[in-house]
Amino acid sequence: MCGIVGILSEQPHSIRSNTLHMLKRLEYRGYDSVGVATLEGDIQKEAGQVDPFVATITDYETCGSIAHTRWATHGGVSRVNSHPHSDATGEFMIVHNGIIENADELQAMVPGCRPLSETDSEVIAAFFRHRVVEDGLSMEEAIQDFFRVTEGTYAVLLMRKGDERMYALKHNSPLALARVGGLAGGAFVLASDISAFSDETGEAYFFDDMTYAIVAPDAFEVFGADGAAHAMVPHSFEWSSEEATLEEHPHFMIKEILEQPQTALRLLESFRTIQSEPLTAFAAHMKRARRIVFLSCGTSYHASLIGAFMLNQLNYEAHTVIASEFENFILVDASTFVIAISQSGETMDVILPLKQIIDDCAGLGAIVNVPHSTIQRLSTVSLDLLAGQEICVASTKAFTNQVIALMGLAERLGFDIDLSVIPGKISQTLEDIDPICKHLADELSDRNEIYVLGRGAAYPMAREIALKFKEIDYIHAEGMMAGELKHGTLALIEDGTPVICLIPGSDRSMLSSQREVEARGARTIVVSNTGEGEVNVPPSGNAEFAIYACLFGHLLSYYIGVARDLPIDKPRNLAKSVTVG
Ligand code: AGP
Ligand code: GLU
Repeated sequence: MCGIVGILSEQPHSIRSNTLHMLKRLEYRGYDSVGVATLEGDIQKEAGQVDPFVATITDYETCGSIAHTRWATHGGVSRVNSHPHSDATGEFMIVHNGIIENADELQAMVPGCRPLSETDSEVIAAFFRHRVVEDGLSMEEAIQDFFRVTEGTYAVLLMRKGDERMYALKHNSPLALARVGGLAGGAFVLASDISAFSDETGEAYFFDDMTYAIVAPDAFEVFGADGAAHAMVPHSFEWSSEEATLEEHPHFMIKEILEQPQTALRLLESFRTIQSEPLTAFAAHMKRARRIVFLSCGTSYHASLIGAFMLNQLNYEAHTVIASEFENFILVDASTFVIAISQSGETMDVILPLKQIIDDCAGLGAIVNVPHSTIQRLSTVSLDLLAGQEICVASTKAFTNQVIALMGLAERLGFDIDLSVIPGKISQTLEDIDPICKHLADELSDRNEIYVLGRGAAYPMAREIALKFKEIDYIHAEGMMAGELKHGTLALIEDGTPVICLIPGSDRSMLSSQREVEARGARTIVVSNTGEGEVNVPPSGNAEFAIYACLFGHLLSYYIGVARDLPIDKPRNLAKSVTVG
């Protein structure tokens, strides 16, 4: 789940201005610790985030460097567990994204190996030293051996002191390569994703599983795990680097919330232009299928619930499942069309089941934000969310575009909705509800629990809003089907308990749920589209209401986070791109 970067340049580059600048752009992938190593063998690393680290390090000019920003999987957050790791002599240096599942077996293959850290990664450096220096294998042979014996997920960058090449190995974790002409006389950059170098180039190569590259400052070669040459073609991408700056905003979260009228418009316009054909093809796959199954996690899962809601209204059989539980709860056959929804396109909990079912289903439709991501590359047909780079760990603008993309598909299948009004109404909602969200944030910022109730299309939003309170505000929150309340959770409601009720139109069942909690003393906050709530969003149909109601959750959770003085863009323990299963 970490971010890795490697630079191999024709003339020396600065680790501070180049390597760590690129690493900073990947920091949303993990921010437990940071480290950098040079080809000459200097390793600097520390627990904590990139900025304070950059301020204290010694800058070096070097032709080869690797760097890592960590989301710990094995071993606590400490300097010793930070990457880069080296073997005991410091000759072989590595950064690793992923999990080496049989790290203990690898360690047993290296006599005398006594790792300093508790990670599953350090052994990689020891393994290479042993195979190359003790066993006399060439680097290529040692890499092929590594592929044979290693189980798990990995993108590894490897340098050896005195060797002017860099080695990149990929299986299951993402890895991209780009040529950056303007960097130190020309350089190759290897990185977990395109965000690292998207301000320098619009073209990249994406590694396939079980492949490796040997990179020199002016050329590279790619091979399969068995050493046979492997073709890798460049892809162009559009990924605005402007979006990676805060401009006048204090946090990326609020910047991204306020971008939503534009990002929604961009997506809707693409449905009439560049994405018109993919949209039609995607809808045709759905039409042909006997059953549709959505696969996603977290916020993207909540978007899939809206998708299933609309499809069920249209009499399509549609199921959703949280991807990590896919194999336990869902059956897929040759007439099932699978739709994967993911902002990053790299979520391992989604990728692993996809790889298992891809040959047995009627096709895979991907709805992703990051272009050329793994999930998109696995798909039969795909839609780009065009939300632009999302930096805040909590998804807002990408989520809204996921819902709009699903609405675009549903509309093609006959769902009655006027998509053209959405960007304007998003803009109006954000403006109208801002004062009440600030006011409510003052009231709720010292609460330890919040409940959110919804039905139908508003139920996924109840869950999404609750997730925002958890991840941004560290407040325990439950987003529930309102009807389920009386089957147990009602016992938790007491005097003053905050309960947000999402009530489109004059939904009678929702009004009953509101009364039931009020009768137990709850402090209810009604979000309405008829002007009868404490929070009022524009008039709309039920599915559309879900979008505007969720904007309330975005703003309220943001302002509570501000009031509680929390690290809004980088909540504790989390990372944006969850690339471990
Ligand atoms: C969003 O606010 C969360 N941080 C998280 O639930 C996220 O939606 C989930 O990890 C799925 O990510 P994806 O969309 O990149 O697959
Ligand atoms: N498993 C490695 C560690 O815990 C890498 C984690 C990651 O991919 O972020 O250090």
